[in-house]
Amino acid sequence: METVIGNDIQHAIDLLKKNELVAIPTETVYGLAGNALSESALLKIFEAKKRPRFNPVIMHVKSIEAIDEYAVLNEEISALLRLFMPGPFTVLLPKKKNVPDLLTAGSDKVAIRIPNHPITKQLLEPLDFPLAAPSANPFGYISPVTAEHVLEGLNGKIHYILDGGTCAIGIESTIAEPAGDKLLIRRLGGLSIEAIQEKTDLLVQLVNKQDKPQTSGQMKSHYAPNTPLYVGEIKELLAEHRDKKTAVISYSKDYDKELITTYHLSANRDMNEAAANLFKVLRLIDKENYEVILAEQFPEDGLGKAINDRLSRAQAEFKE
Ligand code: TXA
Ligand code: MG
Repeated sequence: METVIGNDIQHAIDLLKKNELVAIPTETVYGLAGNALSESALLKIFEAKKRPRFNPVIMHVKSIEAIDEYAVLNEEISALLRLFMPGPFTVLLPKKKNVPDLLTAGSDKVAIRIPNHPITKQLLEPLDFPLAAPSANPFGYISPVTAEHVLEGLNGKIHYILDGGTCAIGIESTIAEPAGDKLLIRRLGGLSIEAIQEKTDLLVQLVNKQDKPQTSGQMKSHYAPNTPLYVGEIKELLAEHRDKKTAVISYSKDYDKELITTYHLSANRDMNEAAANLFKVLRLIDKENYEVILAEQFPEDGLGKAINDRLSRAQAEFKE
């Protein structure tokens, strides 16, 4: 099939109604969307991404009322959702019976979010079904933040890519599960822990570093370029990888220009800008013929934690 990039929202709606797939822009990363209530659409998503079936998919809806149709809410949780939705925040809640088991990979919990992108809001508005949408990349690779990135990975596998420009946040949503007076963070992402703590009294607990993976973002190798990547002290890593053609990912520092090429994620040391540039830069570097990528550890404030999380998962594959 031919994959077309365009901005025809009505065409996207028509395809989705026929249980076909459409890549959609969100403020975090592009999603590979299909009717979340349709088994055939869901199967197409797993097939196009080569994603294992045990890996559940996030449901995307237009409103908190729509979340109420598919997940068990109470007043406290609704109030929490109103603080952060629409936005880069995915909530994990007990699912209702109308949610297909294929979407949740058999789990009794469903992950749901309300994307905050003008085009995808317009797309969701007239739809009478929710969208299932994992990131629009082949399983394990770096999430796409432009329509062209989607095409690189899924050309010939889907009909249409709705072009919404470059994703403003550029890193996947934060996945959180309310648990009494706690909020368990199951995947670090585009909404920082500090930003959550600023608005709620819930005890925010990072639980994504446990052994047993609960979400694919927790599996060891993920978000990985094809070029081996190592994270740490650049000077030490350079000594270990002497004589290789090397790209360095740095927040803002310069390293020896004679020896290596350095890619800055934010010259002004703005952590949101660094997060927005991370996947773009990883993809860019991966296309050049570097033998190794060395990345700094980022300061752990704001989105720095999510950046470090993605870098360490990108590294995992090459560490074994
Ligand atoms: O920003 C985002 O979240 C993007 C955009 C497209 O919305 N989506 C995204 O989807 O990153 P994906 O499939 O690449 O990552 C979703 C993560 C996976 O690690 C998956 O295992 C987890 O969410 N997840 C989804 N449903 C779940 C469930 N019912 N229980 C536990 N984890 C779940
Ligand atoms: Mg993904």
